[in-house]
Amino acid sequence: MSSKLDNLIRLTAQTFLQRRESLNSAGLAGLYSPAAGESQSTFQKSFSELLAAVNNIKGDDVGLSKLLQYLNQLKRHKVTALYTGIYEGPLFCVCIFILYPKSKIPLHSHPGMYGILKVLHGDVVVKSYTSINEVDYRKPTLPTFNAVERVECLSEKSSPAIITPENNLHEIVNQENQSAVFLDILSPRYESENCYFGATEYKPGVFEINQIPCPTTFHTITIPFPFKVKPPDRSSLS
Ligand SMILES: [Fe+2]
Repeated sequence: MSSKLDNLIRLTAQTFLQRRESLNSAGLAGLYSPAAGESQSTFQKSFSELLAAVNNIKGDDVGLSKLLQYLNQLKRHKVTALYTGIYEGPLFCVCIFILYPKSKIPLHSHPGMYGILKVLHGDVVVKSYTSINEVDYRKPTLPTFNAVERVECLSEKSSPAIITPENNLHEIVNQENQSAVFLDILSPRYESENCYFGATEYKPGVFEINQIPCPTTFHTITIPFPFKVKPPDRSSLS
């Protein structure tokens, strides 16, 4: 597979290992802490380098045509998206979502996590929400809270969208009549039991966010990533 993809995995490992080291051996659990480590200049430098590498990834680098073939072979039946993991480990994951036409990944949280989203095909609208007051997203249930909204319309020409431990909720919508494909990097990895789904209600000047169960209309199928990639040095990721 593309050496760009191998390089991306290497850079992602380097970036988030630096974050882990900046936490001074807090361990993986500590990585889910809000805003942990991002003030460290080495982490910021590495994160910027990683963003540039993500921005450079094109559909051909991840075998886009093969992934779209999968999509066409599967009969769509109440499926929102296909998911494939390029690399998955406790420190980070690099994966791809293929979003069907006119579908969306509903509003969900990423407690204490960094995320980078790069569109490789089609167009998506990302609506992200940042709480006005401090919210500990790691709690299993959350009170209603107010947040400000940011809307980004992204295509393959767009720079990556970012989530940080503070800017932590988003929904991803494909409003178009064609599929949309995006690369997603998350660190630490997504732990579904720690995350929650939300519903927004517009109030004057803010959006009120309430926790809801996972919408029954949201259904993702996992498919194997059809190419080999070079994994990061496992001794450093234990
Ligand atoms: Fe997400």
